[in-house]
Amino acid sequence: MLNDLEKVLVTKEKIDEKTAELAARISKDYAGKKLMLVGVLKGGFVFLADLMRKIDIQCEVDFMMVSSYGSSTKTSGTVKIIKDIDTDISGKDILIVEDLIDTGLTLKHLLELLKTRNPSSLKICAILDKPSRRLVDIDIAYSGIDIPDEFVVGYGLDYANKYRHLKDVCTLKPEIYKKRY
Ligand code: IMP
Ligand code: MG
Repeated sequence: MLNDLEKVLVTKEKIDEKTAELAARISKDYAGKKLMLVGVLKGGFVFLADLMRKIDIQCEVDFMMVSSYGSSTKTSGTVKIIKDIDTDISGKDILIVEDLIDTGLTLKHLLELLKTRNPSSLKICAILDKPSRRLVDIDIAYSGIDIPDEFVVGYGLDYANKYRHLKDVCTLKPEIYKKRY
């Protein structure tokens, strides 16, 4: 399996450092509020688990699972809700927790959907960001680490549902994937 890897792009140490910074900001900004973390499955669960254990104020947690429609090489911009949150979010301060923002289309769709449910506030936290790939303008209130336009796996991120368990964020050798996205 390790033979499939090309290089480590972001180490777990660097991720931990950034996560601690983000958690400290979140704990300060949301003190006295009704914070609810909404993790985006599947990729977001690893970061969410690390982030929430570094947050030192009360918070609730729930999950959504989404998938993009269409072929794997083109982003259609429509996302399908496979699992919705089962909590009423009206009056709560919602923080969506994502692994990686790429085109931004998934998040844009999720924001529009959750906004209709009248939360008190609605913001985004993502540990990784590929700013050069953005197709829509979205505000990431809590952004971790910018990475270049390379396909990455590990720390929750997969290629064909594999490699999610790797502790670092890595790139794969080109021969591992025939298709890029
Ligand atoms: P977006 O809608 O294009 O921003 O897509 C975001 C989602 O696509 C991320 O949350 C990831 O789950 C997935 N994704 C985007 N880039 C990568 C990558 O390099 N490796 C693995 N998954 C990725
Ligand atoms: Mg994701």
